[in-house]
Amino acid sequence: MKFFIDTANLDQIKEAQELGVLDGVTTNPSLMAKEGITGVDNIMKHYKKICEIVDGDVSAEVISTDFDGMIKEGEALADLNEQIVVKVPMIKDGVKAMKYFTDHGIRTNCTLVFSAGQALLAAKAGASYVSPFLGRLDDISSDGLNLVDEIRLIYDNYGYETEILAASIRHPMHIIECAKIGADVVTSPLQSILALLNHPLTSIGLEKFLADHKKGN
Ligand code: G3P
Repeated sequence: MKFFIDTANLDQIKEAQELGVLDGVTTNPSLMAKEGITGVDNIMKHYKKICEIVDGDVSAEVISTDFDGMIKEGEALADLNEQIVVKVPMIKDGVKAMKYFTDHGIRTNCTLVFSAGQALLAAKAGASYVSPFLGRLDDISSDGLNLVDEIRLIYDNYGYETEILAASIRHPMHIIECAKIGADVVTSPLQSILALLNHPLTSIGLEKFLADHKKGN
């Protein structure tokens, strides 16, 4: 399973990259705004900086909601760096735009996916990635992991190559459950990735190993 980090924060992206387990980055307009990155020029520069830090794919989202606007923005984003994957919302013009991008060799990440039907449409349009938002479904008392399971089944039934990119991750158990289901990618905040490190027996065991080593020397 690939690990992406879901942030536009350069320090956190660097920290995850230095850990040696990072396969890519996802961003969205809210995450860019959180870092104070505003205006087209600054946003484009920021994507370039992210691409310099990581080796893998970097999802960059279009703001337009009409076909022509999405194509214009997506082409400009894709021109920035070959690592860029154009993030397109799951709306009618978005499906058309994803098909256009697919036909023109531009990779896409279909975002804001909350149902199996939407995921099926994304695959039909040739999306490189589909992003089911687990946490936001859990937030409304629905079952985000069940959606990942459904998408896995449907994609496997027909051999769709669209990768399942589990998003809106809230905690490390989401990551582990996604790995069990067979999501291709999980994009999560740095804290959920780092939380995978922790186990009290590891801490206690290491403390004892070091204490015993000290006694023997
Ligand atoms: O990047 C999209 C997604 O991961 C958003 O997550 O936490 O805002 O629901 P969240």
